[in-house]
Amino acid sequence: MILSIESSCDDSSIAITSLENYEIIFHKKISQEIEHSQYGGVVPELAARLHAKALPQILAQAKPYFSKLKAVAVTTEPGLSVTLVEGLVMAKGLCIALDLPLLPINHLHGHIHSLFLEKEATFPLGVLLVSGGHTQLLHVKSHEDIQILATTMDDSFGESFDKVAKMLGLGYPGGPVVEKRASEGNANRFDFTVPLQRASKLGFSYSGLKNQVRVTIESLGQSLMEDDINDICASFQATAIKHLLHQLKRAFKVHQFERFAVVGGASANLSLRSQLETLLDNHRMGKLLVAPLEYCSDNAAMIGRCAIEAYKKGAFVALEDVKVRPRVSI
Ligand code: KG4
Ligand code: ZN
Repeated sequence: MILSIESSCDDSSIAITSLENYEIIFHKKISQEIEHSQYGGVVPELAARLHAKALPQILAQAKPYFSKLKAVAVTTEPGLSVTLVEGLVMAKGLCIALDLPLLPINHLHGHIHSLFLEKEATFPLGVLLVSGGHTQLLHVKSHEDIQILATTMDDSFGESFDKVAKMLGLGYPGGPVVEKRASEGNANRFDFTVPLQRASKLGFSYSGLKNQVRVTIESLGQSLMEDDINDICASFQATAIKHLLHQLKRAFKVHQFERFAVVGGASANLSLRSQLETLLDNHRMGKLLVAPLEYCSDNAAMIGRCAIEAYKKGAFVALEDVKVRPRVSI
């Protein structure tokens, strides 16, 4: 079995996965959403202190499996420096105490492997990665051969939901609450411009849309009612998704994928999922691949699944050589 640790942002999570059949034997996660909610976003220092409390609590529950472990895996990139370190220090301590090798794992590779929990992985595939830190269109040729076809120039898709929620006083994380408000609102009320419609290069951008939302909120001022909030959320979400779809349609003219997936925390958005399904249908690209809803947001099970591939390759790194790399991408 492999024990995996995830602490790249605001979720403390540990999983134990079978090396024989990929089964998730143990999985626990403690989220910090309530603690960060009052700040409208993740406060790194607070997140690190909460990881320092939560990770040992979860680890204590995983103790019965310690004698069966063959390796320890931990997210080392990308993420918040101070929270990545919390996970890495715990992983190193475990490796020393139990005499086990260490597997550093890339968080984004982890999200891709959330598609293959408890099963064999199949490649190649096109992947839309939409999270709080990233918006990327990827060509995933194998476990390690991943090409970035398009990326965001500023804010990410999930981050734009967080910022809109913050401006509307809806708390953190913004994705689920904005999606809920959007389902009760009129998406045609505000005519937000879809970003990068005429750009020649494939890419994503969300800061302009966020500013359009800000200006709208300011123009409504004190008279902002619940219905206005719902309509802003609906109009914003519709435009944010339209932008993704517009860029994907352009990408599909140049890049052919036999199979296509959406991963990352924001892949839980049901409106995004259903519009992607229609797009794939229209392009005869088969069924949209997704992770189970509970494994879309950050979790250690996806890190464990990715770590099995790293284990098979023998991608162990000496404890003194492992570093956290907060800013690297894929
Ligand atoms: O993958 P994730 O858990 O963490 C990162 O790696 O960043 O993604 C979290 C992001 C947050 O920005 C959150 O607001 C967004 O995913 N999110 C959503 C939804 N659920 C979570 N965005 C849009 N719609 C949702 N339903
Ligand atoms: Zn993530």
